[in-house]
Amino acid sequence: MGATVSTLAYLVSSVLFILALRGLSHPETSRQGNLFGMVGMGIAILATLLRPGMGGGGIAIVLAGLAIGGTIGTVVAGRIQMTALPQLVAAFHSLVGMAAVFVAAAAFYAPASFGIGTPGHIHAGSLVEMSLGLAIGAVTFSGSVIAFAKLDGRMSGAPILFPNQHKLNLALGILMLVLIIAFVATGNSLLFWLIALLAFVLGFLLIIPIGGADMPVVVSMLNSYSGWAAAGIGFTVGNILLVVTGALVGASGAILSYIMCKGMNRSIINVLLGGFGTTGGGEAGPGAGNGDRAPVKAGSPEDAAYIMKNSQKIIIVPGYGMAVAQAQQVLREMGDLLKKEGVEVSYAIHPVAGRMPGHMNVLLAEANVPYDEVKELEEINPEFAEADVAFVIGANDVTNPAAKTDKSSAIYGMPILDVERAKTVFFIKRGMASGYAGVDNELFFRPNTMMLFGDAKKVTQEIVQALQR
Ligand code: TAP
Repeated sequence: MGATVSTLAYLVSSVLFILALRGLSHPETSRQGNLFGMVGMGIAILATLLRPGMGGGGIAIVLAGLAIGGTIGTVVAGRIQMTALPQLVAAFHSLVGMAAVFVAAAAFYAPASFGIGTPGHIHAGSLVEMSLGLAIGAVTFSGSVIAFAKLDGRMSGAPILFPNQHKLNLALGILMLVLIIAFVATGNSLLFWLIALLAFVLGFLLIIPIGGADMPVVVSMLNSYSGWAAAGIGFTVGNILLVVTGALVGASGAILSYIMCKGMNRSIINVLLGGFGTTGGGEAGPGAGNGDRAPVKAGSPEDAAYIMKNSQKIIIVPGYGMAVAQAQQVLREMGDLLKKEGVEVSYAIHPVAGRMPGHMNVLLAEANVPYDEVKELEEINPEFAEADVAFVIGANDVTNPAAKTDKSSAIYGMPILDVERAKTVFFIKRGMASGYAGVDNELFFRPNTMMLFGDAKKVTQEIVQALQR
């Protein structure tokens, strides 16, 4: 295949990737978006294999990489639980970061193979690209490893703070800039490894102060970093498709981070600088007691069915626990039964409910919940005051009023679903444990709250049975 044909094929792939992103922006078109992405990637791999100068050895290495990586990817994807996707994504980002570091090292030690000069005489432009790819790649790697450990519960999700943390991060950032300038001027190998080392440390320091509730923004931000790292590699290896794809991932990750920051009422600059302004929090751990508060009122599925049957308007608030219990199907059945009784049913989606962007939308779509019944936070919040019941199933942090009232709370400032305005609030959860952010939820003790203790799927099944009687 000639160079022009392969460039053309890359162009087609780029367009397909753009269409994929467009398709993924709505649940109805997401399957088609995925298909565009897969075809685009297929064309890209084929075009790479047929590129002039690949040779038998090159093709064998690519095919071996595809076989090994493809097998591992297929096995992991087959086994992974939907609720563990965020940590898997974080782990994958770390691989992209490390790949950028390896490519930068390969280009530095064998520049001739990349057509960027000879050892000791690498073009200045290439040194700039290489050092940026190296730095962003190393930050992405160590930052993603920490994000993985926090999301997977291998280290505490609480922010790790120490005095002068932000000044230290800033000083290290400036030092990094100085090292990159010195490296571009001299091409010195010690400076190359110092940049790598400093970037690994910086990635670590940027992510440790981020508290549990802000992790979604971090994941999308690292996604963006991994895209820019890939674009950096693209420049180094002179591959236009990698530059385009990396930039697409980088830009879409940055836009998603911005949207999520808005959703969480956080400043993007604060998050970029590593939890700048984080005040700490994490008041109460799982199973926190009720102190001197009113006793908790617990009800049965039969009670809940009776109250809901006699309601006019019910708002369902799904959260992480619904995903764990896989209760979406039976939840829709419950919604259908209530609608037959003449009850108005809608579903309220918080932007960070669950453990990944769009988590609840995907699950509800899977259960064939009509899209027009699914409403975003701004749209649904005014409706709680008119609702007879807020049916909170496996959600916790996204309803916690501490986000509005407690300045010392880790979730302070995050917009929440105003479920407490409904006449009656049901919380379906197994016990009194706090949510992901580790913050106690005072709503459990309110007089208009009724706790329905148990697994979300089991409790909802029992409500469905009671409704059918
Ligand atoms: P959470 O605040 O994490 O609360 C989930 C609740 O579900 C828990 O309190 C738990 O209580 C209950 N639960 C767990 N398994 C259950 C089961 N089988 N049946 C019934 N209940 C069950 O969830 P949320 O309200 O959806 O908020 C999401 C949190 O995750 C936010 O803090 C958000 O920042 C964070 N986060 C979000 C994302 C994205 S992008 N969405 C990514 C990472 C982190 P029990 O143990 O008492 O049952």
